[in-house]
Amino acid sequence: MQHRSIAIDGPSGAGKSTLARRLAQALGYLYVDTGAIYRTVGLAAYREQIPLEEEAVARLLPSLDIKMCYGEDGLQHMFLHGEDVTEAIRQHEVSDYTSTVSAFPAVRSFLLDMQRRLAREQDVIMDGRDIGTVVLPQADLKIFLTASPQARARRRCLELRQRGQQADEGQVLRDVLERDRRDMERESAPLRQSDDAVVVDTTQKDLEESFAVMLALIRRTLNIEEGHSHV
Ligand code: DC
Repeated sequence: MQHRSIAIDGPSGAGKSTLARRLAQALGYLYVDTGAIYRTVGLAAYREQIPLEEEAVARLLPSLDIKMCYGEDGLQHMFLHGEDVTEAIRQHEVSDYTSTVSAFPAVRSFLLDMQRRLAREQDVIMDGRDIGTVVLPQADLKIFLTASPQARARRRCLELRQRGQQADEGQVLRDVLERDRRDMERESAPLRQSDDAVVVDTTQKDLEESFAVMLALIRRTLNIEEGHSHV
């Protein structure tokens, strides 16, 4: 049977992972956070202090043992050489490393098969930057999820403060803009909206509203009746 796939792309902080996870749960699909996969490569390069050059990172790739699995909590856990690095990949330094490392074509092609295989084996909601454009161009539905940089920076600050960390809104906004620039200007698989993607802008929407809009869009597009989802 052909499996169904939903691609969600967009800049960081638009709410992709939170919304995609909830939607996947509601629909009984597998949620694949591709950022976490890239982050695992970023973590490996960071730990080994590999120079941020494509050749050096490419040499590291064949030795990497990267696995993902789903815990009883339903969350996607990442493993590097057998170690659960789900938390470690969220460190600030790793985000910076990943942003550079993920622009290298060698890294992108190394991870492409892994992502496509997941979508061949089950119904997926996959989020990232190039899912609708490169990884799953035949996805049943492509959503480009976005929000203004200011709204994304505000949410990020709130999240950091909730975790007990200090956050300066001006600095966080500069970081958001810098990460956008890197994601959009890189040559290999840049972040861009696929021509056939539906844009969902969450600037003026809270999580519940965004979730409702997206779930309705998915049901309509994929012809899923209400009783057939797990909401
Ligand atoms: O979604 P995230 O912030 O966890 O992603 C981490 C980094 O990986 C970010 O710099 C963008 C990059 N990334 C990518 O290049 N392609 C993807 N499909 C997912 C993430």
